[in-house]
Amino acid sequence: MSYLAATHMTCGYGGANIIEDCSITVERGEVAVVVGPNGAGKSTAMKAIFGMLNLTEGSVLLDGQDITHLPPQDRVPKGMAMVPQNRNVFVLMTVQENLEMGAFIREDNIAPTMEQVYELFPVLYEKRYQLAGELSGGQRQQVAVGRALMTQPKLLMLDEPTAGVSPIVMDDLFDRIIEVARTGIAILMVEQNARQALEIADQGFVLVQGQNRFTDTGEALLANAEVRRSFLGG
Ligand SMILES: Nc1ncnc2c1ncn2[C@@H]1O[C@H](COP(=O)(O)OP(=O)(O)OP(=O)(O)O)[C@@H](O)[C@H]1O
Ligand SMILES: [Mg+2]
Repeated sequence: MSYLAATHMTCGYGGANIIEDCSITVERGEVAVVVGPNGAGKSTAMKAIFGMLNLTEGSVLLDGQDITHLPPQDRVPKGMAMVPQNRNVFVLMTVQENLEMGAFIREDNIAPTMEQVYELFPVLYEKRYQLAGELSGGQRQQVAVGRALMTQPKLLMLDEPTAGVSPIVMDDLFDRIIEVARTGIAILMVEQNARQALEIADQGFVLVQGQNRFTDTGEALLANAEVRRSFLGG
């Protein structure tokens, strides 16, 4: 049984179904990547897994436990953390305050985790007293990922963490994400940079019109002629 098993999910926003019979699984210590065209329902699938949308079909199991009907705030203590695609930092708070906000559910000493986040992203330590809104796009994404790590998640969900950053910053962020996965955390990431993301993916999911089109290892998807032609630009 996968650490996260979100299977046969169907849901929408009140009108037509946006995702249908969609399944996504993630293993401990592995990176799973969701790719697909704009509007395919990638963010919707992430929201469904995090409990921000109600499923009409399907279920979400975390470590074997059925959490399908739990609201997001009850999924966080179970080990889920989510970095949404948009507005994922508090721009009027400092870097350090953002990290503290991430730890709001904890009652233990958060200093060691904050130290780990600063080790992972040294630039955040340099800029810890600066407002998050004054940072570059790549640095803001680091704050967003760091904030999520402050809950000490077992499953880290990232919706387009490299949106709007340069290729070098993207490579660096992917390296950091692999580093996080190596500590045993399961990573579920939606990515627009499909080729680069699949290169670091243990498992990849290609979504089209709310449904699974291809599911395989990152390596196999990169080698698949139809995936290359239709989704990776040849
Ligand atoms: N809050 C919402 N209310 C109603 N419809 C929505 C809402 N959010 C998204 N949708 C619709 O759901 C569909 C899928 O959107 P979604 O954001 O999941 O796609 P995506 O694959 O993440 O796209 P992108 O690559 O552009 O981020 C779109 O047709 C979109 O218009
Ligand atoms: Mg999206």
